[in-house]
Amino acid sequence: MTEQRHLLITSALPYANSPLHLGHILEHTQSDIWARLHRMLGHEVKYLCADDAHGTPIMLRAEREGRTPEELVDAIRQQHWEDLQAFGISYDHYHSTHSPENREMVYHIYHALKDAGHVETKVIEQYYDPQREMFLPDRFIKGTCPKCGAADQYGDNCEVCGATYTPADLLEPRSVVSGAKPVMRESLHYFINLKNFEPMLKDWVANTGQLQEEVKNKLAEWFEAGLQSWDISRDAPYFGFPIPGEKDKYFYVWVDAPVGYLACLKYVCEHNGEAFQPWIDPDSQYEMHHFVGKDILYFHTLFWPAMLHGAGLKVPSGVYVHGFLTVNGKKMSKSRGTFINASTYLEHLQPDYLRYYLASKLGTGVNDLNLNLDDFRQKINADLIGKVINIASRTAGFINKRFNGVLADSMDQPDLYAEFIQASPQIQQLFEQRNYNAAIRHIMTLADKANQYIAAAAPWKAIKESGRETEVHRVCTTGLNLFRVLMSWLAPVIPHTAAKAAAFLNTDFTHWNAIEQPLLNHSINPFKPLMTRIEEKHTDALLQSAKEQLKTMDEKKPETVSGAGGNPAKTEPVAPQIPYDDFAKVDLRIARIAKAEQVEGADKLLRLTLDLGHETRQVFAGIKSAYQPEDLEGRLTVMVANLAPRKMRFGVSEGMVLAVGPGGQNIFLLSPDTGAQPGMRVK
Ligand code: 2FM
Ligand code: ZN
Repeated sequence: MTEQRHLLITSALPYANSPLHLGHILEHTQSDIWARLHRMLGHEVKYLCADDAHGTPIMLRAEREGRTPEELVDAIRQQHWEDLQAFGISYDHYHSTHSPENREMVYHIYHALKDAGHVETKVIEQYYDPQREMFLPDRFIKGTCPKCGAADQYGDNCEVCGATYTPADLLEPRSVVSGAKPVMRESLHYFINLKNFEPMLKDWVANTGQLQEEVKNKLAEWFEAGLQSWDISRDAPYFGFPIPGEKDKYFYVWVDAPVGYLACLKYVCEHNGEAFQPWIDPDSQYEMHHFVGKDILYFHTLFWPAMLHGAGLKVPSGVYVHGFLTVNGKKMSKSRGTFINASTYLEHLQPDYLRYYLASKLGTGVNDLNLNLDDFRQKINADLIGKVINIASRTAGFINKRFNGVLADSMDQPDLYAEFIQASPQIQQLFEQRNYNAAIRHIMTLADKANQYIAAAAPWKAIKESGRETEVHRVCTTGLNLFRVLMSWLAPVIPHTAAKAAAFLNTDFTHWNAIEQPLLNHSINPFKPLMTRIEEKHTDALLQSAKEQLKTMDEKKPETVSGAGGNPAKTEPVAPQIPYDDFAKVDLRIARIAKAEQVEGADKLLRLTLDLGHETRQVFAGIKSAYQPEDLEGRLTVMVANLAPRKMRFGVSEGMVLAVGPGGQNIFLLSPDTGAQPGMRVK
């Protein structure tokens, strides 16, 4: 037996302001397989997660809903936990970052960093909402792009022309919270001087942290560009931990979020009466492994190790980065109805299907992973039902009916069994390296072999011939033992199915090496189907529900996708008066949307071909988040027909269609009453 390791394994902490979606499930499944594997290998595993409870969006959502942030985050945490349990994600504990132990640990780390001289202050200028009386994060400011003039762009970049800028560059900026015009204000902020940690971080990246090559390359780019000090404070009002000794200053949510990993561990250790110290002692052999998405790499590979090291604590042993989940080849999108919540999936399909599919596609890289629903059905039906479970369904009946439910005392093909067992270390290694797709391929090759063996031995024929009873007994005993081995390897991936298989075989899958001893002379239970086939109607129903659910969510929650709220319609001040002649300069026309198409590479835009009666125009409209192209074709709308053509990244836009709303799902295109014709002027 190899020496017992001690592993803290985590997934990124989901924000406590929206339900989990299948993108989350990808990550939790990836880490869960790893945790379950290490448990089966006999190591001590602390597999932990929590809700990430702080920050401006959560504060504002609670406010909109008329409840306290504490009430909101408690309710959401409960939903998250239920979804995760249903997917078989085996966290030992699911905590919250809004907890006393997290506060204590954040303060401890902060004081240590401060005492060591790593904290500095600087006055910065930032937009402030005079109506709501708060500083505005970049995504809570919208305005007109200073480069191309596109309206309704976020404070940091333009989705239309791709320009990046600071909120101060935006034309006609407005607060997404209240609609008010923001003003620039100064404020004192706290920073961690990241430069102090450059040598340590470089050493960690090169020598001690387990990181993927792509991640190391990204880090090399960041080092090359120069590390910037990290702004760790936010001004009141904010939902978070106050900075000790300061007035109206809070820790930025990204400070206490990763500390939440350790706070959760501390809570668990105290609860179990176990020592916490070895987990954070830099000299111990204990390990800390984080699974994260590629969008939060910076936090986990620069800020987090720096904070830990600066506070004299152990740095992460590994950070494993995955790509995003796409559905049917497209980014999960609310407007396309491919944004699938975890709970919606569970209404239609079994969790193990998705777990298996994700595992069969997860490798060691950081590329995106596509859930193609046709491929998904085909793979589950072919691999799990057609190959693995098929072995048991073709052999179990004979043991139960002919041999009293007891396996033979020897196998027909011990060599084949030995070949399977010899493959076990390699399969283990592939799982350990998180090369799940390679592990699954290997397992399925062996499943094919087992099926070929059963097909050749054909117990259903042999049983009809006299004198071949013992042979059939041994063939079926071999078949069921091979099935057991396959199921044991797959147990971390499809735990619900494995539990049913264990009950049928009257065994368990708690030890990776238990398969070395075959089950002989062993009683089994009657076989019941372990899984049902997925039909097209199931996946169609899933997509349909996803669409419907989004509609009801929108009705309940009139906010932008970004979580920004307020009711700009009520609060946006009316613009200064203009003479009629100025208005008359704008030529507004009724246009028929002849064609609406996706624009490759554009997140927000649709390409519209507009029929003006006597001519057609191409217009790029930032309405993709709210409309599906096919729903637009044929309808009438209003356009600015004499706007100077604008050259965009994707082509020239010859005008502008008129729409209202704060953005995201809530964009509403204007329509004329019945009777209006393309080309008519709006006066
Ligand atoms: O990106 C996110 O969803 C964050 N809530 C992840 C936090 S991970 C950790 F640092 F806590
Ligand atoms: Zn622009």
